[in-house]
Amino acid sequence: MNLIVVKDYEAMSRKAADIFSALLTLKRDCVLGLATGSTPVGMYKELQRRNRNGEISFKDVKTVNLDEYYPISPDNEQSYRHFMNENLFNHVDINLSNTHVLNGLAEDPDKECAEYDALIDSLGGIDLQVLGIGRNGHIGFNEPDEFLVPVTHKTKLTESTIEANSRFFASLDEVPRYSLTMGMGSILKARKIIILVSGKEKKEAARRMMEGVLDTRCPASFLSLHPDVTVIATEDAV
Ligand code: GLP
Repeated sequence: MNLIVVKDYEAMSRKAADIFSALLTLKRDCVLGLATGSTPVGMYKELQRRNRNGEISFKDVKTVNLDEYYPISPDNEQSYRHFMNENLFNHVDINLSNTHVLNGLAEDPDKECAEYDALIDSLGGIDLQVLGIGRNGHIGFNEPDEFLVPVTHKTKLTESTIEANSRFFASLDEVPRYSLTMGMGSILKARKIIILVSGKEKKEAARRMMEGVLDTRCPASFLSLHPDVTVIATEDAV
């Protein structure tokens, strides 16, 4: 893994936006794999700014998001569809019909997940995937477990993730207990991956991710199997 250490959150966000901007310049119709959580918010803001300035365009871009709570309505303010609209899509020149987020209300979640993997394949695969990391080493909603699932699937959230994500909900009880998430194999198929790590509470997860050992109890450690992963970490996270 290629490691870039930067001073703070703003520097991390700019560095990540640089990598996105370079791809958008080289390939206007690229496929972006996007993530939610608080970590990429600064990068999305910076991309909005560059789009307003005319430095980059999303006109021909297609996006696929990593994951979504289940069940949740796309209109719910805590849904990842809502997050993406608010943090990026509503503020750039992207065609909303080119943006894809798993349907948190799908009647048949297994079918929804299988169709999502087929959709990614039909788009030609992901050119650049951005990831955050959970405090327990999860990526997307691939939680630490005895085994990991390669394809997009429905999964149960761990208590640690429910607790960490409850800060966005009115109460712990309102956090959905399940999610739909791209699997480890779906993520590892992306041609290039960047993972953003910010803050000292991510230090232990970052250490385990970069240890060079594959551990299903730290799903992010499987990124070491990928030939083109760049970790952009703040000083206090490494
Ligand atoms: C959620 C998301 C992950 C994200 C993680 C970390 O569980 N499903 O994709 O990486 O939270 O979030 P944060 O960046 O807020 O620490």
